[in-house]
Amino acid sequence: MTTVDTRAVHAGRADLAALGVHAPPIDLSTTNPLPSVDAGGHTYETLATGGTLPTGDSPVYQRLWNPTVARFETALADLEGTTDAVAFASGMAALTATLLAAATDGRRHVVAVRPLYGGTDHVLATGLLGTTVSWAHPEQVATAIRPDTALVIAETPANPTLDLVDIAALADAAGDVPLLVDNTVATCVLQQPARHGAALVLHSATKSIGGHGDVLAGVVACDAGWATRLRQVRALTGAILHPLGGYLLHRGLQTLPLRVRAQQAGAEKLAGWLAGHRAVTRVHHPSLHDPAGLVGRQLAGGGSLLAFEVAGGAPAATAVADACRLITHAVSLGGVDTLIQHPASLTHRPVAGDARPAAGLLRLSVGLEDPEDLRDDLARALATLG
Ligand SMILES: Cc1ncc(COP(=O)(O)O)c(C=O)c1O
Repeated sequence: MTTVDTRAVHAGRADLAALGVHAPPIDLSTTNPLPSVDAGGHTYETLATGGTLPTGDSPVYQRLWNPTVARFETALADLEGTTDAVAFASGMAALTATLLAAATDGRRHVVAVRPLYGGTDHVLATGLLGTTVSWAHPEQVATAIRPDTALVIAETPANPTLDLVDIAALADAAGDVPLLVDNTVATCVLQQPARHGAALVLHSATKSIGGHGDVLAGVVACDAGWATRLRQVRALTGAILHPLGGYLLHRGLQTLPLRVRAQQAGAEKLAGWLAGHRAVTRVHHPSLHDPAGLVGRQLAGGGSLLAFEVAGGAPAATAVADACRLITHAVSLGGVDTLIQHPASLTHRPVAGDARPAAGLLRLSVGLEDPEDLRDDLARALATLG
């Protein structure tokens, strides 16, 4: 099998030469001419129940199917090592569809391992989609599972503290219950959760896959059975990704391995430097903290996201974020420019008090700038703490 670098460049492009084009075509049609009522009706039925578009058929309507989005899905599935992938208008739309698709036969209970992205935590804690949740540490998952458990959810590395979870051990503990792993932070370059037993691999593609802060998107990599259910929910709830987003994400995949490794190198340098800074009380990055030895076994490297804590709680942390000049004070992660934010006030604000990130914790998404310039900016910002 070719490496992830080679597949990232070529995935989802096998038919381009036959089409006589080098860049994938973008199909923006919201509706498509139908050859006949019967043929259109037949395809409508196939797509509205989650099937794939039969070769040569009219896609009927964009909410049911879009060829540009389908191309990105083919490429992403290739990189995650799954047969299928289903793309959505955001990471939260992808999670919503997964929860709706998983909740069958009266099973509406979810076992979730914290920490999770604040939005994921929020949707589970509120039960907005009709699910109930039991929070569990990885070693408690087997006992937390009930007859009505529909899904086990974990994030590794987790946003924002970069905690690592052993995916294979978690899949074992989940048994027959499907395991969803949010792979946003690692990306398919550093980790392919399906190879370790995850049934569903979710990305906020808004992050590293897009990589430039200009596409909001989500995607779930999975097998054909899950893909059928997810596409049905997507068609009926109207959560499909816009084709321009599909095009940009597919293009983003081509440089993903290069970006991830370069950003990771910067993150490792900064994590090491921050660990020795007198104003910093703790640094979170897999290169510094990997108690179960998962780096190299499950995860090819620590990735581009890190977090660090300063004494003085939220006022000190927000003062540092405010004082950054080169580094942008903004949420999101995985892009080419470095972002800093205070999770307890922003991305993880809705999380219940005892599970909320430490008040003095700042999250840093390291971009492609020279790490020395980033270090100088952080040094100046940290100096404001006196
Ligand atoms: C790990 C993780 N999962 C899911 C999401 C939700 O994705 P989106 O913002 O694309 O809806 C985010 C967003 O920050 C995230 O960081």
